[in-house]
Amino acid sequence: MFRPSALPIFRHAIGAIAALALAQSASAQRSIDFAAYEVPAEGAVAVTVAQGAPLEGAYADVDRIADGALQRAVATAGFAGDRGTILNLPGLGPYRQVLLVGTGSDQPSARLLEDIGGLVGQAGVVSAVPRIDLLWPDASVVEAGAHLALGAQLGQYTFRTYRSPKPGAPLLGKGEIVLRVADAEASRVAWTQDRQHLAAGVQFARDLVSEPANVIYPESFVDRSREAFKGVSGVSIEVLDVPAMQKLGMGSILAVGQGSVRPPRLLVIRYRGAGDDSAPVAFVGKGITFDTGGISIKPSADMWKMKYDMSGAAAVTGAVLTLAKREARVNAVAVAALAENMPSGSAGRPGDVVRTMSGQTFEVMSTDAEGRMVLVDAIWFVQQRDRPRQLIDLATLTGSQVTAVGDEYAGLFSRDDALTARLLAAGAASGEELWRLPLHPSYAKDLESPIADMRNGGGTSRAGAGVGAHFIGAWVQPGVAWAHIDMASMAWREDPVLPTVPLGASGFGVRLLDRYVRDHIEAASGE
Ligand code: BES
Ligand code: MN
Ligand code: ZN
Repeated sequence: MFRPSALPIFRHAIGAIAALALAQSASAQRSIDFAAYEVPAEGAVAVTVAQGAPLEGAYADVDRIADGALQRAVATAGFAGDRGTILNLPGLGPYRQVLLVGTGSDQPSARLLEDIGGLVGQAGVVSAVPRIDLLWPDASVVEAGAHLALGAQLGQYTFRTYRSPKPGAPLLGKGEIVLRVADAEASRVAWTQDRQHLAAGVQFARDLVSEPANVIYPESFVDRSREAFKGVSGVSIEVLDVPAMQKLGMGSILAVGQGSVRPPRLLVIRYRGAGDDSAPVAFVGKGITFDTGGISIKPSADMWKMKYDMSGAAAVTGAVLTLAKREARVNAVAVAALAENMPSGSAGRPGDVVRTMSGQTFEVMSTDAEGRMVLVDAIWFVQQRDRPRQLIDLATLTGSQVTAVGDEYAGLFSRDDALTARLLAAGAASGEELWRLPLHPSYAKDLESPIADMRNGGGTSRAGAGVGAHFIGAWVQPGVAWAHIDMASMAWREDPVLPTVPLGASGFGVRLLDRYVRDHIEAASGE
């Protein structure tokens, strides 16, 4: 069983590393500021250009100040202004650096501005200039500066907690990014009161996902979350430890955690911002702080990446952090189902029969199908305690989802067409896109067991992601609008890097859930 004191020296060292990581902020980034639109005649500037590089706007002004050097550079590089491309020109004319960002043929939109900001933020990480002025005179999108700022902040994310500074190395990525826009003051307000908190929620999730599993395990995930919510109003935090879970009969999450010396936790964060007692929306996240597969052990190649198997939990926690910080008018509850899936003498086995909190039993076919196991107790718990009307779970659940839709979309499974439509829309608007996948009734046959109510996998259907979703759905009560988001392919970004998503931990889900609440709960509640 759990022997939290079995490795006192290790645990001490782990604690020390965790404290160190808390003490220094994970990424010392450029600060963000706003100023009235104006074209500086020196320093570092970032300007945009539409497809075909037409000579107009800030691009024309900077070119004139540089005596035509910008146009010559564009012609030499063959830069066409395609969306998502950037031309980095150090030492151009009187400027220390000019960054030219393509906008393609797209009309200005919040998403376009985020991407522009993101590219400039990424370029800023590898530049020694102390200040970059990003110029955006167009007033067609209100609070343009706040969208640029969000993109810049997300784009300049790095995780360098454990990299020692090299002596004598140039200082890169330090200083500020100044957004020169038509409505600087409105943008500043929108940033400080709203979008900044979205960036903070994404950064929180990315930091937790980036941290290795010797630093982030169920208890330290809880500690980091408590730290992040310190001083944020309208929030209450409940944590279930092993005895509390045993008392509630949560045999399923306990079965996953029982092989690890790091005991599981259920972290419940409630935010009340609606100003009434309306039923909350529940976000439930898979929080496997490391997935070895357990006794059904995974191959060793790439196993290290399974530190990101807690990305769903990081996303729901980060999303509620954002909602609470920006004082969203919503009642929301995040549940992080936290466990480490390890093989050991105390680990669960294939063939074990588990009794979940609901009383429903299942037979373990694979200890590597552990995500659905931790989720069903978390889902049952939140339904009993909080009576949500809507329940959305996020999980890096299956390799099958990766194969089905690749790294462009997360898989969305739901029997509720209205909820599906809202989530698809929130995905498109936030840039964290979803693709609906089927929940065919035939998947039930795959999950039949001769000795228990169900089994956790192992049938003949090749629709692995759908079968996983179907299992989870068996714990959802009638009347609850439920969606399952399988984000296995989205949690960790490899090539190609996106403007607002650098390599590694993406923080996927925070922007999606924030947008869902903003457009489909807050907007619907009036004002
Ligand atoms: N965490 C994995 C799924 C995963 C795979 C996430 C690749 C990210 C990238 C999950 O726990 C798992 O092992 N799923 C199994 C389920 C199977 C045993 C039914 C899978 O997908 O193979
Ligand atoms: Mn697994
Ligand atoms: Zn897993």
